[in-house]
Amino acid sequence: MYDNSENDNPFTAEAWKAKIADALARVMKDQGVEGPVDPSTVIAEVPPNPEMGDLGFPMFSFAKVMRKSPPQIAQAVAALIAVNNNAENIAAQGPYVNVRLDRAAAARAVLAGGAVSGGTAVFFGTDGAVSGPLTGVRIMVEFSSPNTNKPLHLGHLRNDVLGESISRILAAAGAEVRKVCIINDRGIHICKSMIAYLECGGGKTPGSEHIKSDRFVGDYYVKYNDMVLSEKKGKDETSEAEGRARELLRKWEAGDPETTALWKLMNSWAVDGMKETWKRTGISFDQFYLESQTYLLGKEEVLKGLERGLFQKEADGAVTADLSAENLGKKVLLRSDGTSIYITQDIGTAIFRHRDWPFDRLVYVVGSEQRHHFKVLFAILARLGFDWARSLYHLSYGMVNLPEGKMKSREGVVVDADDLLDSLRDMALEEIREKEREEAVGNPAEAAEKIALGALHYYLLQASPLKDMLFNPKESLSFNGNTGPYLQYMGARISSMLRKAGGSAAEKGKVKPELLRSDAEWDLVKTIAGGSGAVNAAAAAMDPSLLAAWIYDLSKSFSRFYHDCPILNAQDADLAATRLALSRAVLGALKDALYLVCIPFLDVM
Ligand code: ARG
Repeated sequence: MYDNSENDNPFTAEAWKAKIADALARVMKDQGVEGPVDPSTVIAEVPPNPEMGDLGFPMFSFAKVMRKSPPQIAQAVAALIAVNNNAENIAAQGPYVNVRLDRAAAARAVLAGGAVSGGTAVFFGTDGAVSGPLTGVRIMVEFSSPNTNKPLHLGHLRNDVLGESISRILAAAGAEVRKVCIINDRGIHICKSMIAYLECGGGKTPGSEHIKSDRFVGDYYVKYNDMVLSEKKGKDETSEAEGRARELLRKWEAGDPETTALWKLMNSWAVDGMKETWKRTGISFDQFYLESQTYLLGKEEVLKGLERGLFQKEADGAVTADLSAENLGKKVLLRSDGTSIYITQDIGTAIFRHRDWPFDRLVYVVGSEQRHHFKVLFAILARLGFDWARSLYHLSYGMVNLPEGKMKSREGVVVDADDLLDSLRDMALEEIREKEREEAVGNPAEAAEKIALGALHYYLLQASPLKDMLFNPKESLSFNGNTGPYLQYMGARISSMLRKAGGSAAEKGKVKPELLRSDAEWDLVKTIAGGSGAVNAAAAAMDPSLLAAWIYDLSKSFSRFYHDCPILNAQDADLAATRLALSRAVLGALKDALYLVCIPFLDVM
């Protein structure tokens, strides 16, 4: 697909990679080497000296297969592309093909986007239609997926924002996305909270105690652990409380009405409370799945597999899978007493989901400590013969701790999500008061909440998912540096500048993209144009930090432009109008991108 249009000079590195790949394939063909060249194998660099151009493409890696020297290849590629281009835009220099981008064309495209849609042009096309590399791909994203015995904690906040952000990014890259959550609402963990409630609840309710309902349930989980600790003698002994929790689980599986009623009640308390937290943080789901509705299907599939000889029965009656061929050891799928375990429900849940919404890909956003679990799960589903088992992906992420120390949920010393959000909000409010911005921001409490969320979400997303991290509340709230509030502040600053410009002489000028000639302007144009590339890269790598880095670049680039280039006081009205249009394009791109990383936008700060 070689483009023959006149003077065809695209302005993004991605488009140029494709062009170079095409030319390389043609040069190869002349050499008798067949086959397309994958554009992703073409490397784009920024030449050391701006005189050389805006992009440089090294040809080293193609020398071997083409049996030509890198400079020879560079010559041939440059000559071929120059036929359809202004010759001065492209040149071979040693082993490099150097390219000068069409600045006016880039500026025109960027300004058209920002001006037309006021915010959705850069990523979603000017007509608002989403199309991209993932168009037509159905992706289910599972995230959060709490147990119902205790409230959400700091780890969930990282999970939630990763899941929500990657879902938004995949959708922006064209995919049809379904956000789902599995509520692990049955099992020994919830029975533990139930035992404690039965023994010391005394008929209290979240309402009677004025406690958020998920925390109310969590408090009994803490009480349960206290009970176990006080009973326990040796390390390996099962405490009586543990025995009673097991017994309760058996009763639950047998459908005992009283047990079921209490289970329902405590689950609804837990889930209702979590829903409040999700609402507060802007997290939502298209579909909830309940373990209690899928674990029997899992059990059924395991038993069918046993009949087909895929699994085996142990002497004690447990059903196991021998995964030594996959290097995954042996895995229990059903306990000796016939009860299901964690993986049993996951088998059922996956099958249930694929029937419910046939996906091309299912992404599980789950902590890295469960890596082995997912390897085993995927291997078992493959063994059961589901061809879609290959489309399952574990988006694994690292631990997050507060600087003071580790989170220890079992002992009850949890960094509770609600508490953390409250204290971030209070710190932001304090800052607003100190800066005497209460009147300016209108509703200080609302602004503080948005700043707190921006700080938290950006901090959690700017690190790549696999890294363990420390969440530093103070640092996250700083208005300077690579933080959420800095980006929000940039948005508010541009908004305020545009408000001020309304009706001014600057507005009356004519927008002329070719006027944007300074280095700062060109850098800004290039950065905006790179936005959709950043979204697609984040989608492909399942890593929002790639987009976060771009947003930070955009803000820095705007800052430099704002410093170097007078806008309202530009030397003539056309230049002022053009710079205003550029600022509007930045604001549009920034708004879109902040949405994708779950940072609330503020008009005033
Ligand atoms: N509820 C589980 C936990 O808290 C996480 C569930 C992850 N998702 C899954 N499909 N297994 O550890």
